[in-house]
Amino acid sequence: MLKVEDLGYWYDRQENSLFEHVNLNFESATSYAIVGQSGSGKTTFLSLLAGLDKPRAGQITLNGDPINQIGLTNYRKSHVSIVFQSYNLLTYMSPLNNLMTAMAITNSSHRGDKQYAQEMLRKLGLTDEQMTKNVQRLSGGQQQRVAIARTMVCDAKLVVADEPTGNLDEANTRDVIQLFQKIAHEQQKCVIIVTHEPDVAAACDQSYRLAKHEFKLEQV
Ligand SMILES: Nc1ncnc2c1ncn2[C@@H]1O[C@H](COP(=O)(O)OP(=O)(O)O)[C@@H](O)[C@H]1O
Ligand SMILES: [Mg+2]
Repeated sequence: MLKVEDLGYWYDRQENSLFEHVNLNFESATSYAIVGQSGSGKTTFLSLLAGLDKPRAGQITLNGDPINQIGLTNYRKSHVSIVFQSYNLLTYMSPLNNLMTAMAITNSSHRGDKQYAQEMLRKLGLTDEQMTKNVQRLSGGQQQRVAIARTMVCDAKLVVADEPTGNLDEANTRDVIQLFQKIAHEQQKCVIIVTHEPDVAAACDQSYRLAKHEFKLEQV
């Protein structure tokens, strides 16, 4: 589904490249972990997959179409959902309105369907009262669930997450990982998670380690 071809990236000079000549395939209905030391370039790699930055070399294709041909703005709007460590919800809104807004902006097939959004939030453990109050009044675990629910009500087939459990305790981490597995296996999406937590990586279907400028498949 998502293909990375001869990908290279560096910030200042090519001699200091984070990675070069990277060739990887990410399939739908599969979850992937990207692990590696702090500073190895995981977030940078994810920002390329998410269309937030452009590669210095090589290209990324989605079902055969180069994403710069799709247009990065269009790609980000319609083809990829992003989950951040810090949740990145619209903080002046309720969970329900966060989902309704995301569905409207991305032109989701469920656009305007309040019951669907409520059902999803209920499934993820939010009470009817919690889903209508300001998101900032929820716990970190609840806010991350809202961010994940947002990707579930949108149609994008690619979900990328940068340290999504970085601010969560063990129980919430387990829940969040289970949700990502559901997104991959029940919604048939391609889920790519950057993490430094071995438990999170082990729960994914496949794991790649970024080290010494290369991505290597790990046994999980
Ligand atoms: N905007 C930037 N300008 C210059 N260097 C950067 C920038 N962002 C990150 N870096 C550097 O690139 C390297 C990789 O960063 P990053 O992708 O955030 O790694 P990771 O997510 O694996 O910790 C680090 O050495 C970091 O300092
Ligand atoms: Mg990072």
